[in-house]
Amino acid sequence: MGKIIAIANQKGGVGKTSVTINLGKTMASQGKRCLFLDFDPQNNLGDALAPELASMQGFANGDHPSNVFFMFSGIVEAQPFVVTENIHVMGSSKKLANVTQDNIFDFADSLDKIKDRYDFIFIDCPPSVGALQHTALAVSEKVLIISQAQGQSIKGVHKLMTTQSQIKKRLNPQLEVVGIVINLSERPETKNQIEKEAELRKDYPSLVFESKLYKTVRVSEALENGQALVEYAPSHAEKFGFNAFADEFLTRLEVNS
Ligand SMILES: Nc1ncnc2c1ncn2[C@@H]1O[C@H](COP(=O)(O)OP(=O)(O)OP(=O)(O)O)[C@@H](O)[C@H]1O
Ligand SMILES: [Mg+2]
Repeated sequence: MGKIIAIANQKGGVGKTSVTINLGKTMASQGKRCLFLDFDPQNNLGDALAPELASMQGFANGDHPSNVFFMFSGIVEAQPFVVTENIHVMGSSKKLANVTQDNIFDFADSLDKIKDRYDFIFIDCPPSVGALQHTALAVSEKVLIISQAQGQSIKGVHKLMTTQSQIKKRLNPQLEVVGIVINLSERPETKNQIEKEAELRKDYPSLVFESKLYKTVRVSEALENGQALVEYAPSHAEKFGFNAFADEFLTRLEVNS
């Protein structure tokens, strides 16, 4: 079973951070020890899960041992911020945008020092290609792709599939795509969404998750509060369609192991 999972799509705003939080919190509530790594210099995941981190001394310049940037600065022992027993977080700051391909190996060695403490490590990727996305894919066993049923977002999927196969061939032979999940579906879907979803399923028949995630305003509110939707507004969780997706995700991990 893959335990280091990159959540990616270089297209911005498709729901990478929201899915990471909802998925990780679901796994944590099932007793799994989860580490969240914020690979986006915007620190959206860090702000949501551990808002106190950003104002800590040394955090902005990356020296803090709970900042992901610290793990790129040498072979170091990171100290993830403890939110609960099962939820540990490494936040980020603008400094993270400075990492280059040269820092990949320091990060990988720093991760090796702590990874055995966790059942799952979720890496929330930035909406861009470059050293950060490459590092995430170089150290992960699985990549979970988030997409909207929309043109630009599907272009991002195609590009990411190419990058995944290149990184698998040259750098990380164990890297597999666990699946592509469609987020922000309308109920009922628009004509364009129906067409784009059909296109995506035709291109990647076995990879697109059967279950979809739907648009519901409560997802944004939950994210602002650092909560999974099921914690923040349980009566809206069904609308989001997350439970079926989480079950399918776990089944795929086990099948693919
Ligand atoms: N299913 C959903 N229903 C409603 N709003 C959603 C849903 N998924 C994500 N959002 C909202 O869309 C916005 C973008 O989501 P999110 O930040 O998770 O995307 P992202 O891919 O991580 O973005 P970025 O590329 O900037 O990192 C946020 O305001 C979020 O709350
Ligand atoms: Mg994000």
